Amino acid sequence: MSAKSVLLRLLAPSLIVKGLCLQSSQKDEDLLREGIISEEDWLDGYKAGVRHIGNISVVTVETRAGNPMKLPGRNAGNSSDSMVTNVGAGEPWKFYRTKNGLMLKWLEDAVQKDPEAIAIMIDGGDMILGGCDEAFIRQKYGQILKASGGGPDMTLVMSAETACFPWDMGWRFRESALWEQRRSAVDSQVENLSDDWVVPWSPCGDHKIAPCDGKSSRAYRYPNWGFVMGPVRDLKPLFEWVYNNGGKKGELDQLRAQWWMLSNPDKITLDYTGSLVLSIHQMAWGRPDSQAPIEIARNEEGQPVIRNKILGQPCCFAHGNGDGEGLINRMIGEMGKLTAAV
Ligand SMILES: *[C@@H]1O[C@H](CO)[C@@H](O)[C@H](O)[C@H]1NC(C)=O
Ligand SMILES: *[C@@H]1O[C@H](CO)[C@@H](O)[C@H](O)[C@H]1NC(C)=O
Ligand SMILES: *[C@@H]1O[C@H](CO)[C@@H](O)[C@H](O)[C@H]1NC(C)=O
Repeated sequence: MSAKSVLLRLLAPSLIVKGLCLQSSQKDEDLLREGIISEEDWLDGYKAGVRHIGNISVVTVETRAGNPMKLPGRNAGNSSDSMVTNVGAGEPWKFYRTKNGLMLKWLEDAVQKDPEAIAIMIDGGDMILGGCDEAFIRQKYGQILKASGGGPDMTLVMSAETACFPWDMGWRFRESALWEQRRSAVDSQVENLSDDWVVPWSPCGDHKIAPCDGKSSRAYRYPNWGFVMGPVRDLKPLFEWVYNNGGKKGELDQLRAQWWMLSNPDKITLDYTGSLVLSIHQMAWGRPDSQAPIEIARNEEGQPVIRNKILGQPCCFAHGNGDGEGLINRMIGEMGKLTAAV
């Protein structure tokens, strides 16, 4: 893929529509700043889409596909529905704030209904669902929290990745004993992995935007905003902070999520083993797809699922962030064909 599109994906992880240029989102932001359109108007016409894996709500904001749209991947069994109502279908993404603002609105409503309800907030267009069931997701979520040593306040699990973006935030995680000890505990206790498990799986084809650390220090340790899971009452303050509190307009949402994590280490941890979600940036591009860490397999019923080859188990969510986009798009196509054939 081109360096430009890598740049776009990394700079604007929530701007899902391909080719949407940064200038156009900048214009929207300017309009907002000048008070020509209000934030409320701006959010009108978009809607968070929700599907369910058992009792877990999977929430996304997606405007690329039709309405109702089907998230790529396949159903996670008959307690699941796969339709996502998406009022904003067809409209271009305006700005990454749209996603976070809509998700915050959804969370505010969800907290009123049941503050303990578990939700997974994901990027829409570049996530593929691998076919995990609720029991598997709840089990991994609990194991990650437990290995992270969290007390009763620790309820949130965010996705991790191999390279840090923004790049200059990396040292805050890499050089911190707290985060590194926690990562090591999750690696060994959740999946019996060594701390450097990502090294053989990371061709590191991007040297410019979000480059890998050298082999001796490389690890799957950096926060990625594409996935975060927990009770809605605890997700809400995180989204409030990412969406507005104190932020400069135009500040990257992933950066704000990283700052929140740094100041709330007792509340949030990362899926350091990729047990729930694998972020593909730096893990596929530059090698044949057959050497990628995920593949399409079939479950006992013969249905296509995504398999995590590193762990030898289902891959619940695979995220085509950064240079992982190509692989994920090819898998979406392949899964679609296979699903249609079943
Ligand atoms: C899931 O929801 C059902 C009813 O909606 C409820 O009876 C059940 O206890 C819930 N299970 C969990 C694990 O929350
Ligand atoms: C799931 O589907 C199968 C076959 O369609 C059915 O026999 C079973 O009762 C369903 N289970 C639940 C929990 O709905
Ligand atoms: C964990 O991994 C090590 C080294 O790969 C292996 O020797 C050990 O048997 C594994 N332990 C478990 C409980 O699987």
